[in-house]
Amino acid sequence: MLIEKLNWRYATKKMDPSKTVPEDKVERILEAARLAPTSSGLQPFEVIAVTNPEVRARIQEIAWNQAQVTEGSHLLVFAAWDNYTADRINMMFDLVNKERGFTSEGWENYRQMLLNTYVPRDAETNYQHAARQAYIAFGIALAAAAFEGVDSTPMEGFDPDKLDEILGLRAKGLRSVTILPLGYRDEAKDWLVSLKKVRRPRDQFVTEVK
Ligand SMILES: Cc1cc2nc3c(=O)[nH]c(=O)nc-3n(C[C@H](O)[C@H](O)[C@H](O)COP(=O)(O)O)c2cc1C
Repeated sequence: MLIEKLNWRYATKKMDPSKTVPEDKVERILEAARLAPTSSGLQPFEVIAVTNPEVRARIQEIAWNQAQVTEGSHLLVFAAWDNYTADRINMMFDLVNKERGFTSEGWENYRQMLLNTYVPRDAETNYQHAARQAYIAFGIALAAAAFEGVDSTPMEGFDPDKLDEILGLRAKGLRSVTILPLGYRDEAKDWLVSLKKVRRPRDQFVTEVK
């Protein structure tokens, strides 16, 4: 059950560096991220899967020295488009038309509406919108990792500008949003592993309007 897996997972603080997440599991976690819904289906982000130990060591330095970055076996970087451009919007609309094998007036009108709304908007507003979409895939990847019995740590604790520099993201029109180390918990050494998961009770979280 998903709820059991979500109770099992926690923001792992100490991973066992001798363990490697198998590629088939990593692939399914990436596939879950790829299947994430996004506003207008634009998928305005990419995922960079970093295994290279030297690159991860450099990333750890600009990520509050958090050890999971190198003690996990994979580091997923969620990077959003730095802006919405006509090319990017058209690329996704053309892909939909090609994959579905037809065009429709309603869909083309919708494309035009997005082009008219997003393209003239300032880059920062567009990036912030794209980053919100990246967060959805980040959350789904986190849940998919738990489903696979893989530990992970959702992270915002890093310097995005420096990470963009290390991975050359700006040259590709991308900006890093979040990172997700994947690995296996070191039960003996993780101070958080046995602590109770704390959430506000349901009645302080859900309001029912009936
Ligand atoms: C967007 C986001 C950013 C986070 N950044 C970090 C981080 O940089 N380092 C870290 O150890 N935990 C980080 N966390 C983990 C949270 O502290 C943790 O998810 C929260 O306390 C709930 O605990 P749990 O995930 O163990 O259930 C982050 C979580 C989220 C969702």
